[in-house]
Amino acid sequence: MRNRRDFIKNSLLLAGAIGFSEFASAHPPMPDENIDEELYWKMIRAQFPLSSSRAYLNNGTMGPSPYPVLNEVYQDMLLVDTNGRYGGHEDVALKSLASLLGTKDTELTLTRNVTEGINISCWGLPLQAGDEVIMSTHEHVGNATPWLNRAKLHGIVIKAIPLGKTAEETLDIVKKTITKKTKVIALPHIPCTIGQILPVKEICALAREKGIFSFVDGAHPPGMIKVDLKDIGCDMYAGCCHKWLLGPKGTGFLYVSENFRNTLQVYYGGGGFDTGWDMLSNPPVLKGYIDNGHRYYYGTQNPSLFKGIAKAVEFHQQIGTERISNRVKSLAAYLQESLIKLGPKVEMLTPTESISRGAQIAFKITDKDVTKLQTQCNEKSITTRFVAENNINCLRISTHIYNTREEIDLFVTETDKFIRS
Ligand SMILES: Cc1ncc(COP(=O)(O)O)c(C=O)c1O
Repeated sequence: MRNRRDFIKNSLLLAGAIGFSEFASAHPPMPDENIDEELYWKMIRAQFPLSSSRAYLNNGTMGPSPYPVLNEVYQDMLLVDTNGRYGGHEDVALKSLASLLGTKDTELTLTRNVTEGINISCWGLPLQAGDEVIMSTHEHVGNATPWLNRAKLHGIVIKAIPLGKTAEETLDIVKKTITKKTKVIALPHIPCTIGQILPVKEICALAREKGIFSFVDGAHPPGMIKVDLKDIGCDMYAGCCHKWLLGPKGTGFLYVSENFRNTLQVYYGGGGFDTGWDMLSNPPVLKGYIDNGHRYYYGTQNPSLFKGIAKAVEFHQQIGTERISNRVKSLAAYLQESLIKLGPKVEMLTPTESISRGAQIAFKITDKDVTKLQTQCNEKSITTRFVAENNINCLRISTHIYNTREEIDLFVTETDKFIRS
């Protein structure tokens, strides 16, 4: 029934028979929070235009937006281009994100993606040749390459550590890697590879105790688990809204603690970042930087995307962080247990320790190339992510609120067939 309804609606849109606003606003209301749990999540799934003929298990790469977010962005873009209004809405996005992340809006910078926040952090730190940066052998290109480039241009030294199987083990590895030359710890909160949650609060406490700068690559946690930036206690945290927060694509944020604002240098400038400038004085001057996160961004922005961020946070908060987190983690736990039951050929890479397990499960199959499993799944309309990063060569499966246990069963059945083939 739902397949048919989706099919008709999507076809009408593609044929131009209905406009986008009719498409995006024609979705069922949000379910009552007290209805039966499985029915509740089925109704949440109906908030997404996601094709029901495909099991999308790759939220870790890109989070599809629900209709309310798409509609908000569309309506606002139409308004901007109708009346020529330009600018604004930063406040609404910053305040929403601040309420979600347990911080002040003045400590947030709006970015286009995680990589931009990483670059602002990496290049703005006062570092010299020989200074050491602790990273991991599980980095995404977005975190690895800015630091590697700074190593190439400025001679900083990157120390790449393996991750432990438990939070305690990882913390221990970090401790043992610190030397007198360590100036930065720049680890992911959840790496893109095997999806384990790292003990960032403990790592940042260690960094503070030793006078080391702490940067966290937070591409995955916002929207998946509770992120309380003050509780984590990092100096900088780069995240995005286009993965687990299900916000508009090309949106992100950087948190710089207010105590750290004057340490992190500003290298790019433009409209909005300053406290005044004067080309008529002799010599011309830049008076200073604005005393909030706006010092790190500038120029013309897309205000409609900012409205979309606020809508995504509203959608998330309507369901509730705890409810979302419990759901996505329980789907991942179900997947992990089902895969382990397939037998010893499944090499489980994501830790089974519950504090380390989020909503992504990664594994390999002994003596088999999992890219072939990815192709097999794709032919059955199941989207997965092969992880080539750092030669890990595993398959990563993400579980978000629009996924069902049936979709997971479908994937596990394909994996079982693959092992036996
Ligand atoms: C851990 C991690 N860091 C950084 C990034 C880069 O994110 P973005 O594409 O938003 O710049 C990703 C993207 O998948 C990621 O998984």
